[in-house]
Amino acid sequence: MVRPNQVLILFAHPALEKSRVNRHLIEGIHGLDSVTVHDLYEVYPSFHINVGFEQNLLLQHDIIVFQHPFYWYSSPAILKEWQDLVLQHGFAYGQGGTALHGKKFLSAITTGGDAHAYHREGHNYFTIRELLVPFEQTARLCGMEYLPPFVIQGTHQLRDKQDLARHSKDYLRAITALRDDTIEWEHLRRSPHFNHNLDQVIKTQEASHRG
Ligand SMILES: Cc1cc2nc3c(=O)[nH]c(=O)nc-3n(C[C@H](O)[C@H](O)[C@H](O)COP(=O)(O)O)c2cc1C
Repeated sequence: MVRPNQVLILFAHPALEKSRVNRHLIEGIHGLDSVTVHDLYEVYPSFHINVGFEQNLLLQHDIIVFQHPFYWYSSPAILKEWQDLVLQHGFAYGQGGTALHGKKFLSAITTGGDAHAYHREGHNYFTIRELLVPFEQTARLCGMEYLPPFVIQGTHQLRDKQDLARHSKDYLRAITALRDDTIEWEHLRRSPHFNHNLDQVIKTQEASHRG
């Protein structure tokens, strides 16, 4: 029996009680084996991050996910604090800093702006991939493979429960496939976003049995 990948979700939402989308996504993956959901605002309401604990957590996982709403073209503040403190020289990068080498990194974000807004002609001008470059390069510097991000856009227009349920199901599929390594890696690496076409990116049950 092949050991499943251990997936760590570093979750950051400063007002979970007001969240619609991220709350749904987190609830959808609750209790999955080999998936650790680590809610940073819940654990560190005063931002006093326990660096040793966080580094150990990283060591115990193969796939690191930053899940958060997109705030000012970046993450909520605690995730920046977490990066500044936890990704230390000699641990994550620099001489002897190989702790994260070979792991995979995924950004899972929700944006108020819709897909059209994130184009040269749209009012955010830059694409999501461009705006996520600091995360991509952080992952690269730490020796991790940066995967195309899982992105849900136009959150204000997600009106009904069906829309939310569809995204939540996609997220569950994505996280489960990362855990079980049922990913068509070459397809994924060519995709603009992880959830651009999940049916191509995730192996069907039959194909994964064939190996
Ligand atoms: C402080 C703040 C900053 C935001 N910045 C952006 C932004 O830069 N781009 C964007 O598309 N949406 C932005 N939004 C909208 C959020 O991304 C959106 O409300 C969120 O993804 C919805 O997820 P939730 O229901 O889990 O809160 C911002 C919202 C807040 C409160």
